[in-house]
Amino acid sequence: MHILVTGGAGYIGSVCVEQLLQTGHKVTVFDNLSEGHRSAVSPGAQLVIGDLQDRSAISAAVAHAKPDAVMHFAANALVGESMLNPSKYFRNNVAAGVNLLDAMVENGVLKFIFSSTCATFGLPDQLPIDEQTPQLPINPYGESKLIFEKILRWYDEVHGLKFVALRYFNAAGASECFGEDHRIETHLIPNVLKVALGQKSHVDIFGTDYPTPDGTCIRDYIHILDLAQAHILALNSAQSARYNLGTGGGTSVREIIACCERVSGKPIRVVESPRRPGDPARLIAASAKVQRELGWSPRFQSIDAIVQSAWNWHVRHPNGYGD
Ligand SMILES: NC(=O)c1ccc[n+]([C@@H]2O[C@H](COP(=O)([O-])OP(=O)(O)OC[C@H]3O[C@@H](n4cnc5c(N)ncnc54)[C@H](O)[C@@H]3O)[C@@H](O)[C@H]2O)c1
Repeated sequence: MHILVTGGAGYIGSVCVEQLLQTGHKVTVFDNLSEGHRSAVSPGAQLVIGDLQDRSAISAAVAHAKPDAVMHFAANALVGESMLNPSKYFRNNVAAGVNLLDAMVENGVLKFIFSSTCATFGLPDQLPIDEQTPQLPINPYGESKLIFEKILRWYDEVHGLKFVALRYFNAAGASECFGEDHRIETHLIPNVLKVALGQKSHVDIFGTDYPTPDGTCIRDYIHILDLAQAHILALNSAQSARYNLGTGGGTSVREIIACCERVSGKPIRVVESPRRPGDPARLIAASAKVQRELGWSPRFQSIDAIVQSAWNWHVRHPNGYGD
C-alpha cells in the first residue's frame, strides 16, 4: 500500500515510516518540521514539507500522492503548554486535522489511522483503562484528541471514512536508526538518560507521596516498535474502531530511574519535587481488545529491553538529530 504519514519526521512517526518501508509499503511523509527532523525521515520515503494548517498544501499533497491510507501522527503534544495556550492545540490538533480529513474525502482516500492518547481519559477511577472507561480529559491536549476522535465518527457516518484510533500510553524506546529527540523533552526516559550521558545534572521526581508502593507515579510504557506494529495491523481493519494501546504493565518513576542506572551503568542524581497538578497516580492500559481484534501483542514486555534500546540510540546520537 501507499501510506501518507503526517508527522513522519517526529519520534513515533519516524519509526512507523521505517517499519512500513521494511514491510514493503510505499510512504509519503507530510511534515512541517516544526518538531520533527529531516534526518529522522527514512531515505526510502518521499518527504513533503508542508503544514496541515495550510488547507491547499495538504489537499495538493493528498491529490498528488493518491495514498491508499493515511496515518496521522502530526500534532502538538505538550500537556503543560496546552494549559497555557489551548488555541494552539485546538488549531493544530483539531482544525488542521479537519483539513487533512477533507483532503482525504475530496480524493476518495477513506482509510485513516489516528494517534490518540491515554490523556483522553483524564483521571480514571478504575484500572486498567479499557475502551469502556469514560473519557474525561483534564487538559486541552487530551480534549483536542477526544474532539478529533468524535469528529472521526461523523466522517465515517457521512463519508464512509474508516478509521482506527489508537490511544497510546507512554511511548518509549528506539529502533536501530530512529529515537526520541523532542525539542522540548518532557518524557521521563530520555530525561533520565540525559543525566546518564552527563547532559543534565539531575532528574526531577514530581511527587513521592502517591498511593503506590514506592510513592511515585506508575505508567504503562510501550515500545515504539510495538506501536508501529499496531499501526501496520490496523491497515487491515475493515471497520472503524478505537483501541487502547499499552502493555498492561506498570513501572514507577523510581523503577525507571533504577532501570536507567542498570542499563547505562551510571548513577542518576534525583531531586524530589512536589506533585504536578493533574498527574494521576497510575495509568495502565487494558489492551485485550486490540489483541483480540487486530492480533497485536507487544514484543517488548520488559522495561529493561525498552530502556536498553533507548540508551543504545542516545549513546550513538548524543546530540539527537543535531538540528
Ligand atoms: N510520545 C508519546 O508518548 C505519545 C503518547 C500518546 C500519543 N502520542 C501522539 O502521537 C503522535 C506523535 O507523537 P510524537 O511523540 O512522535 O511527537 P513529535 O512531536 O515527535 O512528532 C509530531 C510531528 O508532527 C509534525 N507536525 C506538527 N504539527 C504539524 C502540522 N501542522 N503540519 C505538519 N506537521 C506537523 C512535527 O513537526 C513532528 O514531526 C502525536 O499525535 C501525539 O499526540 C504520543
